[in-house]
Amino acid sequence: MALRTQVGIVGAGPAGLVLAHLLGRDGIESIVVESRSRQYTEDRVRAGVIEQGVAALMAETGLGDRLHREGLVHHGIELRFGGRGHRIDFQDLAKGSVVIYPQNKVVGDLFDARAAAGAQTFFEAEDVSVHDFGGATPETKPKIRFRAGGEAQEIVCDFIAGCDGFHGICRPSVPAEALKVFERIYPFGWLGILAEAPPSSDELIYAYHERGFALLSMRSPQLSRLYIQCAPDEDIRQWPDERIWRELHARLATADGKWKLTEGPIVQKGVTGMRSFVVEPMQFGRMFLAGDAAHIVPPTGAKGLNLAVTDVRVLARGLAEFYASGRQDLLNDYSKICLRRIWKVQRFSWWMTSMLHLFDTDNAFDQRRQLAELDYVTSSRAASQTLAENYVGLPMEWD
Ligand code: APR
Ligand code: PHB
Repeated sequence: MALRTQVGIVGAGPAGLVLAHLLGRDGIESIVVESRSRQYTEDRVRAGVIEQGVAALMAETGLGDRLHREGLVHHGIELRFGGRGHRIDFQDLAKGSVVIYPQNKVVGDLFDARAAAGAQTFFEAEDVSVHDFGGATPETKPKIRFRAGGEAQEIVCDFIAGCDGFHGICRPSVPAEALKVFERIYPFGWLGILAEAPPSSDELIYAYHERGFALLSMRSPQLSRLYIQCAPDEDIRQWPDERIWRELHARLATADGKWKLTEGPIVQKGVTGMRSFVVEPMQFGRMFLAGDAAHIVPPTGAKGLNLAVTDVRVLARGLAEFYASGRQDLLNDYSKICLRRIWKVQRFSWWMTSMLHLFDTDNAFDQRRQLAELDYVTSSRAASQTLAENYVGLPMEWD
């Protein structure tokens, strides 16, 4: 027997879960279908920087308790190059801040809120597929089919939200000729570690170095998150812990030798490739794509999670308008409203990436140009301000 709901959501990442949460607050029913286990989705080590607008949204919608207790509010970042640190002061330049709070905690808080609301989630769903969202006739309802616990299931809904990430099935289910893809793949990746060591700095450090980019980030006062630029297909087996620390020490060192990097046991390590990707439009009939299903940013600037949340904020508002009044104006503009901001965030993520990484096609001229850009960004108030206002999060433009 088919299940019936208003919005069928594919994917229990930040996009799918925040959407379900916002809809629930407006009295709109949804069911979430996720291919992994709850444990897996909650334990995944992902992003950790939350824009102030996203943190405010979480607090306004009842997700602020643990965020306020455990989140670390940061009022700036450091850009380190030429062996010296230069602070970008968000408070002064953009009257803003970000919150360091790991994505897996965000996901955990959302699961708890779902459980408390008695909302339905299918985990470990297999062979997930989406149907009839093209709107052949107004009576044909979109459907999500899958297998769970060995049984075939079907969800009949008014709308499908494709929140199933970059490798999901929703985007590929749209006829290819209906979508336009914009993409850039970078010739490097990040080797990231999670280390049981107190962060060696109060704020994040983005380092430009002749050996390649390095980033010092954190998850909590006890847990450091560090990255180094590497080959996109870097073999992690070639990177014993000592080699990773050696490289981090070299790339983050200051010329005066005063700054110290604290080491600790490495509890997780991995390599991720980097790409910029956008699909247009983000809607096909009664299916809406949101988050990584529709766009990917390189991680420099930490925008992936924030973009996913801003998409579903627009979608939830459009769906609320539809169910309250039958009007589809906002839903019809979903893609346009989101893409306007997404492209600005794409530009920022690309710019941060280009300014801070070594490209194998670059020559000595390009490296001097990068240093000049870093010098400019950290010495001109106008230039620092553009970095600061993008980092803390651009406003949402609804019209
Ligand atoms: N059926 C059901 N669920 C699926 C399927 C499928 N066929 N394919 C993928 N999924 C699930 C994934 O297991 C994952 O839990 O969809 C979810 C997508 O979540 P994310 O990849 O986290 O994407 P999104 O919610 O858009 O959040 C984007 O989170 O992880 C970061 O780098 C990412 O910061 C970005 C943000
Ligand atoms: C992280 O903490 O994982 C992180 C922080 C800042 C970035 C990217 C990743 O720009």
